[in-house]
Amino acid sequence: MKNFINISDLSSKELRLIIEEAKSRKEKRKNLNKSSPDEDKPFEGKSMAMIFEKPSTRTRMSFDIAVKQLGGSSIILNPEGIHYGKGDETLKDTAKVLTEYVDIVMLRTSKHKNLEEFGKHLGIPIINGLSDQSHPCQIMSDILTFEEIKGSVQGKIISWLGDGNNNMSNSLIEAAGKFNFQLKIGCPKKYTPNKKILNWAKRNNVKLIITQKPDEAVKNSDCIMTDKWVSMNDKVDKKVKKKNLKPYQVNKKLMKKAKSNAIFMHCLPVGRGEEVTDEIIDGKQSVVWMQALNRVHAQKSIINWCFS
Ligand code: CP
Ligand code: NVA
Repeated sequence: MKNFINISDLSSKELRLIIEEAKSRKEKRKNLNKSSPDEDKPFEGKSMAMIFEKPSTRTRMSFDIAVKQLGGSSIILNPEGIHYGKGDETLKDTAKVLTEYVDIVMLRTSKHKNLEEFGKHLGIPIINGLSDQSHPCQIMSDILTFEEIKGSVQGKIISWLGDGNNNMSNSLIEAAGKFNFQLKIGCPKKYTPNKKILNWAKRNNVKLIITQKPDEAVKNSDCIMTDKWVSMNDKVDKKVKKKNLKPYQVNKKLMKKAKSNAIFMHCLPVGRGEEVTDEIIDGKQSVVWMQALNRVHAQKSIINWCFS
């Protein structure tokens, strides 16, 4: 039994196996309906409980479909509707009860430590469906998408523009180390990756360049990624942050400075006209809808890995 909390918790070999299984399962079921189960139904008779402390469209839908395709079932729990560490029941007790009912838990939380606390008391695996510190399922899906379009990510250049200190950029830095690609982050000094992740990057020889110049960040890049300038629960002066990040907007002018066949990625939801222009997100280089679909396929192998 294993937990999937951060990309950095897994070896490169384990992460590679997850991606390869996702590719082969996706290929095998290409003629099946969206919710039909895979032939081997590895999750038959099993179920997943999903808890969302914050809103979600993709994570909610893609995990539900992933579990269906594996032959199992899922239930979504709204923290407001259950006893969930609000004084009348501790997280520990909720974890112990869920252990009796289901086979795996997926948690989206505002406090990363809730994942650790919950995981400590669960007798079943837990998957991080986004925390304030990381979004490993999204980045795994993004590696899958990248490789389906451009081949092996190893040695390629990915650029990250905008907020350099959020859950997505943290997981992307970890992925750069584990999958061995070059990561160039273009962000203002104020939104540079935090010390903890920078130390991890140093210890793990991540090929990481951080620059305040957006042009430099995208030069020679195979893929440009960005994210909302203000994340959910980001307690900042939104107006100030958006103004500071304006020069890092992914637009036609900036996209032209990457390789001519570079792709554009965004985990969604998107702030259209803020971190990216309509022209780019709706344009030929954008692969954002494929990213959303691949959440299903990457998460199926993440679930299987938890039981391997
Ligand atoms: N990308 C992503 O995690 O989207 P949701 O917030 O809709 O789940
Ligand atoms: N950084 C974003 C990602 C959303 C999927 C957030 O946390 O809101």
